[in-house]
Amino acid sequence: MRNIVLVGLMGSGKTTIGRLIARRIGATFYDSDHEIERRTGVRIPTIFDLEGEAGFRRRETATIEELMKLPNVVVATGGGAVLDPRTRALLQQLGWTVYLDVPVVQLYERTKGDPNRPLLQVDDPLRTLNDLRVLRDPLYREVADFILDGSRYHSSSAVNRILKEWEKQSA
Ligand code: S3P
Repeated sequence: MRNIVLVGLMGSGKTTIGRLIARRIGATFYDSDHEIERRTGVRIPTIFDLEGEAGFRRRETATIEELMKLPNVVVATGGGAVLDPRTRALLQQLGWTVYLDVPVVQLYERTKGDPNRPLLQVDDPLRTLNDLRVLRDPLYREVADFILDGSRYHSSSAVNRILKEWEKQSA
């Protein structure tokens, strides 16, 4: 499979790593959240405010369906894209899927104070991240063709490690 799909919790580095990977392999990079924002003309928190999480999820699935029509892409998904079984199946069809598995404390450090992550606008975001991890880790594992232990790599070495595996499976 040529396309690469990145999954993982908020702050796991999907956008940063996805962009670097796309540049390395000459693919087009898409971030599903940015695509949703581009199509709607509003930021993610506004969509959550107006349509709730369920409305956002419908837009997320529709965006992934649109991205499936494009050739040669690297896609960074939103952290909750794996929640719906149908969307999980779409992600697996979209491309070779990598789970960026990063410890919760690191996720917390990277997302702390970010107003654009509505699910973390709570009293105890560390606890929320922990709860999300418990719930979602099995789902990320279910869709993943490759799991990267994010605690062991910085962005550039993560890219090298992922591309080594990707070349093996696409050979
Ligand atoms: C979400 C993650 C966000 C964004 C939305 C919901 C989640 O994307 O899709 O705020 O449910 O984990 P990132 O993982 O890119 O932050």
